[in-house]
Amino acid sequence: MRLPKLGFLYLDYVLRFFDHSNFKGWPEKIETVTYHWKNDKKRFIKEVKKKKIDVLIGNIPATAYETFREIARELPHVRFIPSLDTQFSNKSKENVTRFAWKYNLPIPQTHIFYDREKGYKFLRQTDYPKIVKRSYGPSNYGGYFVHKVDSVDEAIALFDEKKYHPIYVQDFIPMEADIRVMLIGHKPVCAFWRRPPEGDWLTNTSQGGSMDYQDVPKNVLDLAVKVSKSANAEYWACDVAYGKDGNVRILECATAFAAFPYIRDWIGQYLMWSLSGGKMKKPHLPMFNWEELGKIDSSLLRTMRHITFGKYTPSYDGAYFDDKKKSYGDSQYYIHELDEQYPMLDVAPRDYEEWPSEKWNFQDRFPFKSIKSMEVENIQNLDAPTSGDEASPEIIIDQQDLQTLFEDISGLGSKKIQKIFEEFSEDEIVENLEFNPGAFSKIKGIKEKLVKKIVSAWVSFKEDRVN
Ligand SMILES: Nc1ncnc2c1ncn2[C@@H]1O[C@H](COP(=O)(O)OP(=O)(O)O)[C@@H](O)[C@H]1O
Ligand SMILES: [Mg+2]
Repeated sequence: MRLPKLGFLYLDYVLRFFDHSNFKGWPEKIETVTYHWKNDKKRFIKEVKKKKIDVLIGNIPATAYETFREIARELPHVRFIPSLDTQFSNKSKENVTRFAWKYNLPIPQTHIFYDREKGYKFLRQTDYPKIVKRSYGPSNYGGYFVHKVDSVDEAIALFDEKKYHPIYVQDFIPMEADIRVMLIGHKPVCAFWRRPPEGDWLTNTSQGGSMDYQDVPKNVLDLAVKVSKSANAEYWACDVAYGKDGNVRILECATAFAAFPYIRDWIGQYLMWSLSGGKMKKPHLPMFNWEELGKIDSSLLRTMRHITFGKYTPSYDGAYFDDKKKSYGDSQYYIHELDEQYPMLDVAPRDYEEWPSEKWNFQDRFPFKSIKSMEVENIQNLDAPTSGDEASPEIIIDQQDLQTLFEDISGLGSKKIQKIFEEFSEDEIVENLEFNPGAFSKIKGIKEKLVKKIVSAWVSFKEDRVN
């Protein structure tokens, strides 16, 4: 079998989920193709053709999603990994919801309105509390664009102010915790709890919540597998709400997420196995490896690469080396038995378009400004940008960029800025900006209000870069 020609799909200003180091051992050259934003479609397509690429690997940020659906159509013989259909959920919370509706996956009851009058009417007759989210825009800010509203007045005041569009309203689910599960080939490879601080509803670990890797329940892993299969995802992350009622529901799912480098290595190994038709070795990733790896300090975990595991082999007397059993579901298992229950499967591309934009891109068909029934300006304020470089785990910026970004924030003086640079490395600062802005409140004098300003500044900084 001839090996397919691989290429990495990169976008300017968007840091890379994968690079060559994740595909160690691939015997042929891996190309890279970079999208430069602003009308770069034609040139990009030409370059992919010229380089004779068969498989383009990489995550597409929300702001480029629709453009890449067009690009993919013009490159029918190129396989995108993950496919544009798999990445449908990356674009917006609305898309996550529509995906869940289609596959009958449990989510909190959700209402989406493009018609503001209908939306407001709903707000007036529904019961509270409810959760309001901005559907499209930077996500994974650990709840910075997620609001709990306790009454109709609060809900209406919020939409009058924020002008989030569409109106996206969800039942409030009292939760024990939410659980992030990462999967490769539909097999869970990492999972952890995020618990809210005492008395709080938001599971934002940077605000005093906690995180741990122990004993993620079976119904959570089973749901995550089902979601990954529905999305036909080569790799996947799923946030599952673990309700106080014991029920599980999906909060978020995507192919773009923060992952330790060793997890990206595993994805690379898995893809090389799949794309080589089995010629290259499939990684063996034992179930619950995360319970043990999670004991390692994260600063060290971040540097660990190419972690491999051997398979369990029975010893001479038929016993297993490790005779420890694990309680899971209603029973006790050896880990290798669970590995059989959760196989790492080969994901084959589908041969049809599941979410064509003509049908599913509601956002561009029903933009805010086209609704005449309400005289409101287009979304302008920093809290609610119309576009943002969403879901991309990282963005390329240097120390000078960060300095400039911080200097423009009123209330953030040079002393505080200096403390930020003392407390965090550049990478950590970017990671905090993307995934964990509350971490800045570790610095004396940086309170919630200032954190929000930092988030807004970061959002508009990214917009400036890509527009
Ligand atoms: N319907 C809900 N009921 C209760 N809490 C919720 C609900 N939706 C979200 N949350 C809380 O808000 C957090 C952020 O919501 P999420 O949808 O993940 O948005 P983000 O993109 O900001 O991460 C979740 O981790 C969870 O703690
Ligand atoms: Mg989230």
